[in-house]
Amino acid sequence: MFTYKKLAVASILLVFMVIGMAATRPLDEKPKRNLKVLPKNISHEDLDKIMDSWKVALGVKCSFCHAPSKDSSSRHLDFASDAKPEKDIARHMFRMTAKINKKYFHFDDDDKDKGATMPAVSCLTCHRGEPHPETKPGIDKN
Ligand code: HEC
Ligand code: HEC
Repeated sequence: MFTYKKLAVASILLVFMVIGMAATRPLDEKPKRNLKVLPKNISHEDLDKIMDSWKVALGVKCSFCHAPSKDSSSRHLDFASDAKPEKDIARHMFRMTAKINKKYFHFDDDDKDKGATMPAVSCLTCHRGEPHPETKPGIDKN
């Protein structure tokens, strides 16, 4: 049978449900990051700096590696998407570059921090503003 007590209990439960939903919502709506080589907790600022340096090193636009948004009404890029193979090649290149630095450079570095902040070899070392450093007409071709 309907009583005010039941109604009071029901409304309290409802209030808790609404609070609970509101509290979990920001977590659910936060866009998921898709980082496989960069630190997962990288700051927005540091990520921007790295992306900008890759763009400059290869002499390309962000859209060279990042696919357009699936929502055709949006002119933005879908940065988390892995649809463009160039993005995965960039990850591969990042791992290679880190390995080259770790294995072949900073051999006389006592200061580990210096080695970490100033890599001897970077994307720019090879790319020099070109996406395809190997196809540049060069001295090794005849
Ligand atoms: C040479 C390829 C390349 C270029 C150019 C590039 N990016 Fe990226 N970007 C990547 C890769 C690879 C990742 C994923 C890194 C990882 O897996 O850790 C990434 C990740 C990102 C992310 C994080 C996406 C997520 O999952 O949250 C953002 C944002 C982003 N890039 C923005 C940009 C912007 C803005 C530019 C242009 C200034 C740019 N990128 C240029 C390769 C590139
Ligand atoms: C040791 C030299 C070297 C370094 C360092 C290097 N690259 Fe490359 N990269 C190359 C060469 C050579 C190619 C062409 C390979 C091929 O086509 O087979 C290439 C190709 C690429 C491509 C594919 C281009 C395309 O059109 O498909 C991307 C993307 C790329 N590099 C990104 C990067 C990024 C980002 C970095 C730094 C994290 C980097 N590379 C560091 C030598 C290098």
